[in-house]
Amino acid sequence: MADKVLVIGSGAREHVIATTLLSGPGVDRVWCAPGNPGMEPDGISLLREDPTQPEKLIAAIRELGIDWVFVGPEAPLTAGLVDELQAAGIPAFGPSKAAARIEGSKGFAKDLMRRHGIPTADYAVFHDLDGAKSYVRSHGAPVVIKADGLAAGKGVTVATDLDQAMQALDAIFIDHKFGQAGAQVVIEDQLVGQECSLMCFVRGEQFWPMPLSQDHKPAYDGDRGPNTGGMGAYSPLPQFGPELTQKALDAIVAPTVRALAREGSPFTGVLYTGLMVTDQGPQVIEFNARLGDPETEVVLPALTSDLGTAIRTLMEGGEPQFTWDDSHSRLGVVLAAQGYPGNPKTGVPVPLIAPEQDLRAYYAGVSGSASTGLTSSSGRTALVVAQGDDLAQAAHRVYARLDGLSMPGLFYRHDIGHRGLEA
Ligand SMILES: Nc1ncnc2c1ncn2[C@@H]1O[C@H](COP(=O)(O)OP(=O)(O)O)[C@@H](O)[C@H]1O
Ligand SMILES: [Mg+2]
Repeated sequence: MADKVLVIGSGAREHVIATTLLSGPGVDRVWCAPGNPGMEPDGISLLREDPTQPEKLIAAIRELGIDWVFVGPEAPLTAGLVDELQAAGIPAFGPSKAAARIEGSKGFAKDLMRRHGIPTADYAVFHDLDGAKSYVRSHGAPVVIKADGLAAGKGVTVATDLDQAMQALDAIFIDHKFGQAGAQVVIEDQLVGQECSLMCFVRGEQFWPMPLSQDHKPAYDGDRGPNTGGMGAYSPLPQFGPELTQKALDAIVAPTVRALAREGSPFTGVLYTGLMVTDQGPQVIEFNARLGDPETEVVLPALTSDLGTAIRTLMEGGEPQFTWDDSHSRLGVVLAAQGYPGNPKTGVPVPLIAPEQDLRAYYAGVSGSASTGLTSSSGRTALVVAQGDDLAQAAHRVYARLDGLSMPGLFYRHDIGHRGLEA
């Protein structure tokens, strides 16, 4: 009998997790908590239960007869939701609170990498302003300043001069801009190269890699403007061969999951490695304890095996099957509300794009309903993904569709995939 699954989260990442689960035989019903109304036309039910209140969530899970839970975002993972669900006898896919420290504390991740010789930028950790400032003064610019904890992608400054570095430290230690997440700071050397994302399904010391992908953080074309949560992504990456992935798996992923397991916090879930491809090979920028957003929206649709069956098998200790379509490219473009990332306009109409043969939309920050119309409720409203025989065809398909829509109050980048297209 097929499973009933609850996906925790509300964004486009959770939308694609849910549709991928529903597309296979292992799962026949999906709820998303809290989800968003752009998911409903795909047969996903919304559960308006607050994941920070595990008792209520557990009661709802029991009442609905949900078989297992997929936890999407970092906040509930680092808060220990998986531990709480498992303690209540509910199978949950995602790392424990202890294993999620690999994302929840950049200092924890860096120390683990140093102990195990995993390639990453040199660094030092500080708990106070004076120590941090004197280190930065003797180090010189460029230098990278990172708040230790979760900061919704806003806690990192790549400082090109000392003034910028000092301001970043003042924001952390004097203005307490990131609260507890800034109780300590990681200061690291700048790495130079092209970034990419390598995500793996993990159980203890075993792992199953996904195709490589690349995100685009800056808000505007030509990689200009403020950094965002991501304006688009594509996969696979024509500029990198399979040797790069193999090198990263051998030198980074394998020793990292082994270290977590042997140091008493085995990782089960998705480990996301943010890589800088340098002249010396791939180096770790950071780890996330979950699927990346927007990368997941262009990676999961390439899965040709059944996601629900694989996750269930993985959780039960069997041999999961993960097979991938390597004969197509996928490229996704975020529709953002004007003003994003600073002060996004809310209430802007967001088009409801029905699935087409090679194109579909995943929704994020929208309110309203599919029948009366969706409107923006935060910066990133939706991500539109097209599939093509190659990256150029995928890009052509998505932009042909978007350029044909009138979307006042929304904007998107026109050059997603440019590094892959240039290659
Ligand atoms: N050591 C580094 N060298 C160069 N750029 C870096 C370095 N560390 C981080 N960055 C840049 O800052 C971005 C955000 O840093 P990251 O560690 O991924 O934190 P988060 O995603 O939590 O904001 C990276 O995607 C990268 O562009
Ligand atoms: Mg990052």
